[in-house]
Amino acid sequence: MNNYKRYLVTSALPYANGPVHIGHLAGVYVPADIYVRYLRLRGREVKFIGGSDEHGVPITIKARKEGVTPQDIVDKYHLIIKDSFERFGISFDIYSRTSSKIHHQTASDFFRKLYDDGIFIEKTTAQYYDEEAGQFLADRYIVGTCPQCGNENAYGDQCEKCGSTLSPTELINPHSAISGSKPVLRDTTHWYLPLDRYEPWLRRWILEEHREWKTNVYGQCKSWLDGGLQPRAVSRDLDWGVPVPVEGAERKVLYVWFDAPIGYLSNTIELLPDDWERWWKDEETKMVHFIGKDNIVFHCIMFPAMLKAHGGFILPDNVPANEFLNLENDKISTSRNWAVWLHEYLDEFPGKEDVLRYVLCANAPETKDNDFTWNDFQTRNNSELVAVFGNFVNRAVILTHKYFEGRVPPRNTLTPYDEATLNEIPLIKQSLENNIETYHFREALKDAMNLARLGNKYFADTEPWRLAATDRPRVATILNIALQICANCAIAFEPFLPFTTQKLRYILAKTADSWDAFGRTDILAEAHRLNEAQLLFDKIEDDEIEKQKAKLKAAATPPAMPAPAPQKNACTYDDFMKMDIRTATVLEAERVPKTDKLLRLKIDTGMDIRTVVSGIAEHYSPEDIVGRQICLLANLEPRKIKGIESQGMILMAQQADGIMRIVRPDEPLVNGATVC
Ligand code: MF3
Ligand code: ZN
Repeated sequence: MNNYKRYLVTSALPYANGPVHIGHLAGVYVPADIYVRYLRLRGREVKFIGGSDEHGVPITIKARKEGVTPQDIVDKYHLIIKDSFERFGISFDIYSRTSSKIHHQTASDFFRKLYDDGIFIEKTTAQYYDEEAGQFLADRYIVGTCPQCGNENAYGDQCEKCGSTLSPTELINPHSAISGSKPVLRDTTHWYLPLDRYEPWLRRWILEEHREWKTNVYGQCKSWLDGGLQPRAVSRDLDWGVPVPVEGAERKVLYVWFDAPIGYLSNTIELLPDDWERWWKDEETKMVHFIGKDNIVFHCIMFPAMLKAHGGFILPDNVPANEFLNLENDKISTSRNWAVWLHEYLDEFPGKEDVLRYVLCANAPETKDNDFTWNDFQTRNNSELVAVFGNFVNRAVILTHKYFEGRVPPRNTLTPYDEATLNEIPLIKQSLENNIETYHFREALKDAMNLARLGNKYFADTEPWRLAATDRPRVATILNIALQICANCAIAFEPFLPFTTQKLRYILAKTADSWDAFGRTDILAEAHRLNEAQLLFDKIEDDEIEKQKAKLKAAATPPAMPAPAPQKNACTYDDFMKMDIRTATVLEAERVPKTDKLLRLKIDTGMDIRTVVSGIAEHYSPEDIVGRQICLLANLEPRKIKGIESQGMILMAQQADGIMRIVRPDEPLVNGATVC
C-alpha cells in the first residue's frame, strides 16, 4: 500500500480528572486498539502510545474543591483509567502520564528550542486576576452577564444561552467562578505560537496533500484555515503544569494543549530510551493519531505547526477522528453523570468485555454522532453475537464431538456449493483488510461477522444433522468446512474481540495463527482433536438491561437551569387592561401539516367557537390537549399562520431552557371567565 516500515499509533491522552466512559472508548480507544492489533497480527512493526493528560485548569479547580492537591487528583484517576484500559484489553505498549519527570523534561526542551529559535511572539496583555484566590483566571472561570442576551451565567469565552463567542472583558459584572470575588485586570506576559505564519504551509499540507483524510476531519481543518489562523498563546499563569523554561517566568506554565501532545513523544522516549528517534524522525514511520472531534484543531493544526517549527520530526500521516457517541438520545455529560463508566461496566459485566467492544465498534460514530442505547446493546449481543457467531461455532464443535469423537473429520468430495462457500473466505479477508487500512472499522467488523454468517448459512443449507445416519462421508466434509470457517473466525475477530478469540482458540485447541493463515481452508488438520464446546457468548436478559437503565436515570443529575430571562420594560396598568384574557376549552386539535411546531385548535371561549393556531406541538400532542381548559388572549388581532386565520393566543409559561406548559385556572371555571 505504501512504503512505510513501521507504525506509531497514538490515542488522545484522556484528562486524569475523571474515569473514562463509553464515549471515549467508541471515539478513540476501541478503533485505535483494533488498528494496532491488526497491524501486529500482520507482523508489522508497531508501537501504541497512550497516557494520561494530567495538566490544565479543570484539574486544579477539582483539587481546590476537594481540598487536595492536583497531584492527588491525577494520581487517583490515572490509576483508575490505566487499570480499566488494561482490563478492557486496550493493548498499549506504554500508558504513561504527563506529570512524569521525563515528560516535563521533554516538553520543557521542546518549548526552549522554539524559544531559542525565535519562533514565539512575546506579548503583554491585561487579564483578569482573582485577588482572593491569588491567581489569573482562565476565560472559562470568569462568569458574568452576557452583553448580547442578558444571561447572568455567561462564561468568559462564550454564552451558552445565546451561543455568542465572548471575551472576558465583554462580560458585564464579571466575577470569579473560583472565589466569587470581583476580578481585577492585571498585565501579564505570554508566548504565542504564530500559527498565521504556518498557514500557507498548513493549507498545502492538509488541503492538497491530505485530501484522503476523513471528510469530517478535512472539513473542520478547511474551515479553520479559511477563517484565518491567529497567533495562539502557549503559556498560562498557573501553578500546575510544566514550568515555562525562561528566566523570570515565575508561576507560568506551558498551556496544556502545548504540553499534552508532546506526551506522545515523551512516552515513546520512556518506552524506547535508545530507539525512539527511529520512531519520530524517520520518514518511513507512519504516525496516526486517534482522537475525538473536539481535538481536531490541536492535532491537525497546532501540533503539526509545533513539530514543523521544531524541525526534525515526522508529521502524522492520518488523523482519523471520530464524531461523538450519545447515550440514550442525550449527550454524554460527565458533570451530569450521564455516562456509562468503563470501570463500572467491567465490574458489572464480568467476562463481557468483548460485548462492549463489539457494540461500540458496530455503532462507532465514524461519520456522524451516534447513539448508544442499552436496548441496542442487548439486541446486538443476543441476535448477533449469540445467535450468529456463538451459535455457529457451538454447532460446529458440538456436532464434531457427537459424530467424530471431537476430531476434525476428513474432507471428501466437494460440491460446487462447498467450493463457493470456501471461495468466499479470501474475499472477506480482502475486504476486511481494505476496510481496516482505511479506518472503516464498522465495515471491517461487518466483514468479520459475514464470515460467521457464512458458516451459519452453510449449516442451514446443508443440514448435516439430518444426514448423520445416511451419509457419514458427507457429514464429515460439511463439518470439516465449518471448522475451517471457525478457525478463520479466530483470526478475523482477533483485532475486535480478543477475549473471545482466545476462548475460541482454546475450544479449537489451536495456538494463535498469523494473519497469513487467514483465507486458508486447511488451518485445522484432519484428526486434530478439539476441546469440549463452551459458549462464546451468553444471552443478556431483560432485567439486566432494565437495571442499567434505572441506574443511569437514578445517578444522573438534572441539567442546571439557565437563569430566567431579564424583566421587560415597565408597562402601565392601562396597557395591561387592554388585553382581554378569558378561560376557554380546547374542543379539537390537529397538527398543521408540514410544520413541527404548530397545532390547529378549535376552542370554546364561552362567547363563540373559534380557531387558534398555536406553536406548542413540541410540548403537547393533540391527544394531550383536547378537553383541557386554557387561558386565551381573546382580543389579539387575528393573524394568518400557514394560511389559517388564528383568532387569539394561548397563554403559556416558558422556562429558560425552552420547556413550556399551559397556564390555566387552579380549578376549572366556566368558559369565558375574565382573567385579570
Ligand atoms: N486531554 C485531551 C482531551 O481529553 C486530549 C489530549 S490529546 C493530546 O480532550 F494530544 F494532547 F495528548
Ligand atoms: Zn448571551
